[in-house]
Amino acid sequence: MTKQGFDLVLRDAVLATAGDTCRADLGIVDGRIVQIGRGLAPGMCEIDVAGRVVTPGGIDAHCHLDQPMAPPVKLADDFFTGTRSAACGGTTTVIPFAAQRKGATVQAAIDDYHQRAGGRACVDYAFHLILTDPTPTVLAEELPRLIEAGYSSFKLYMTYDALKLSDAQILDVLDVARVHGGMAMIHAENSDCIAWLTRRLEASGRTAPRFHAVSRPMLVEREGAHRAIALSELIDVPILLVHISGGEAVAQIREARAKGLNVYAETCPQYLLLTAADLGTDDSYFGARCVCSPPPRDKSSQEQIWQGLADGLFTVFSSDHSPFNLTGEDGKMPGGQQVAFRHIPNGIPGIETRMPLLYSEGVLAGRISLNRFVELTATQPARAYGLYPRKGTLAIGSDADLVIWEEREFTLANEHLHHAVDYTPYAGMTLRAWPAMTLLRGQVVWDGKRFTGAPGQGKFLPRGLPSLAPPSARKGTRPDWR
Ligand code: URP
Ligand code: ZN
Ligand code: ZN
Repeated sequence: MTKQGFDLVLRDAVLATAGDTCRADLGIVDGRIVQIGRGLAPGMCEIDVAGRVVTPGGIDAHCHLDQPMAPPVKLADDFFTGTRSAACGGTTTVIPFAAQRKGATVQAAIDDYHQRAGGRACVDYAFHLILTDPTPTVLAEELPRLIEAGYSSFKLYMTYDALKLSDAQILDVLDVARVHGGMAMIHAENSDCIAWLTRRLEASGRTAPRFHAVSRPMLVEREGAHRAIALSELIDVPILLVHISGGEAVAQIREARAKGLNVYAETCPQYLLLTAADLGTDDSYFGARCVCSPPPRDKSSQEQIWQGLADGLFTVFSSDHSPFNLTGEDGKMPGGQQVAFRHIPNGIPGIETRMPLLYSEGVLAGRISLNRFVELTATQPARAYGLYPRKGTLAIGSDADLVIWEEREFTLANEHLHHAVDYTPYAGMTLRAWPAMTLLRGQVVWDGKRFTGAPGQGKFLPRGLPSLAPPSARKGTRPDWR
């Protein structure tokens, strides 16, 4: 506290962290938490929280904002609209992806991404890398330098022709991660199986959106997850499997954990709340709105994902916000209503609804504890991606990124949201909670009715190394081949 006292005091809050819940006041100076206790001295400003729950601001560690796409397709959200939407749903840090173009450097993608985000982001941000061309120079020089410079996580794709790496290329990158630290995030699906099934389905005229799920059955994700785990075991390095959709992939992760492997996992709201039925029927094209990869599965998969959220299997809960409009040439139906599923851009919006959906359907429905909610939406993302303890918790010295929760029931409509997308897949759902207020470094950016932040208010966050469990290699083991 300075001589002048606190800039802001939150009075009488139920403060929830990943470990504890306590009723106290919280004092803020210069955008940081400086004191937590009862009967704090008056602040220049005061917010009477009146016994409501306050959690750390959310970290959405998997979202796509202003990421270049193959024309005519375009993401609807840039850094302004995407982070405005994030703030209104309780998220104060986002980590989207800077994607390397084949034949170009990774640095070129980062430079481009700084241009897109700078002066536009309304919440704090960092960048994961997407590595599509791990040349000898990238592996020996660029990636180690970038990890050191604060870009300490990178996504590797096992599918999508423009992005995918071979197993040998994945091993090369994992080997760099083992030596230099950093977190490899893996999109695990078997590319050849998807391509083969897609050709078969198209040959028999089965091209409606619902066949997207038929072309990517659970087993292609199960096989991808199994292979990714084996590659990480060979190199003896942690990995984080992103957007896990169902029971068979969950089983692979459980088996890996039982063997003591550092395999972490992410899931997303779509795998809790949507099923393949949302992709429509044989001749319905409206289902394009729910096409994402992996696709939503079935009720039993939803139950197994909930189980993994409750029992600690999942490390992080992200949105995988991939915002395409339903209408228009650049959105979900390029070429018109009858677009074949192969041409529907993959991904659905969800940056604003991520936290309220999990609070409503998880905490208030009794499926997960409030502390586990904080762990999944803020603390573990901060640890996994090198932002802890500056972000992700309520502690002395941490940024005062805060969400004050209000429990109220309402029916969600796209008009409530602040993204630039013309739909939400969750329209019509009953929600039981929404942020009454979101604060970014002590500044109110959402007051329960209006976005009160500004473009450029978000700062870039260079990151440290992950601080989840240390890799087993650093505990003294060494694979035979090394
Ligand atoms: O369908 C999805 N998930 N689209 C976004 C890109 C990705 O693979 O995360
Ligand atoms: Zn992916
Ligand atoms: Zn994604």
